[in-house]
Amino acid sequence: MAFQLNSVVPWGRNLAEYRLMFELGDEDMKKKIAGFGDGPASFNCEATEKGYQVTSFDPIYRFSTDELCRRIDEVRDVVMQQMSENMENYVWTNIKNLDDLENTRMSAMRLFLEDYEKGKAEQRYICHELPDRLPYENGHFDIGLSSHFLLMYTMLGYDFHISAMTEMLRVCKEIRIFPIVDLDANKTELISGVIKHFKKFYDVEIRQTKYEFQKGDNKLLIIHHAQPDDSKLRLDQGLQQ
Ligand SMILES: C[S@@+](CC[C@H](N)C(=O)[O-])C[C@H]1O[C@@H](n2cnc3c(N)ncnc32)[C@H](O)[C@@H]1O
Repeated sequence: MAFQLNSVVPWGRNLAEYRLMFELGDEDMKKKIAGFGDGPASFNCEATEKGYQVTSFDPIYRFSTDELCRRIDEVRDVVMQQMSENMENYVWTNIKNLDDLENTRMSAMRLFLEDYEKGKAEQRYICHELPDRLPYENGHFDIGLSSHFLLMYTMLGYDFHISAMTEMLRVCKEIRIFPIVDLDANKTELISGVIKHFKKFYDVEIRQTKYEFQKGDNKLLIIHHAQPDDSKLRLDQGLQQ
């Protein structure tokens, strides 16, 4: 079935939030980064302005600026109403209150919309739906990110997650996923199963983050291709001499 815009709730975060969620230090930002399910986040726009290399992938990039703008306007009040009914489930420190939240999200999405056509022409916003195969060779990107998409949308199921993350790990040397709880901020069997699967083939790490907005969503999953063991490598080289 074709991807329907009315099934998406476009809600975008900004560069500062991405850097905190994904622990992206100055050295990380110099690397080639791919954002999966970036939607209307301003991460790409703000990072590009600072000279960094970010490519964003999302099925909503098949729609026009006007269509995305309309959809953002449609969902804005609905999301804010839900937030006001569930305020006790959130940590109001970085984002101080509902007005601050609405301003932060709307500013991020405005930046995205202003940058969208230019970014599409520069191939920074690419229409792509996981787990479809990407047109890149193995290890093309250094870091692949997924913010508030993978692991959170548990209804997509185990097989979807394994296929999507396998394709991300094919084109990226390392992937980072935040948060690692479902939409209600609960740890689920899906998440445990996915981590158990990737532990068989990759180095898997869970880091506590400084970023926490929904209570309990303060953990980041990092999966990277196993590094050759340095001491073993030196031993092998020594034996060859
Ligand atoms: C809640 S939004 C998160 C947006 C952004 N990452 C952020 O944190 O601000 C989830 C995004 O996942 C995208 N998405 C849904 N299904 C997808 C798929 N199969 N592959 C890639 N992205 C998908 C949606 O279009 C939406 O933009």
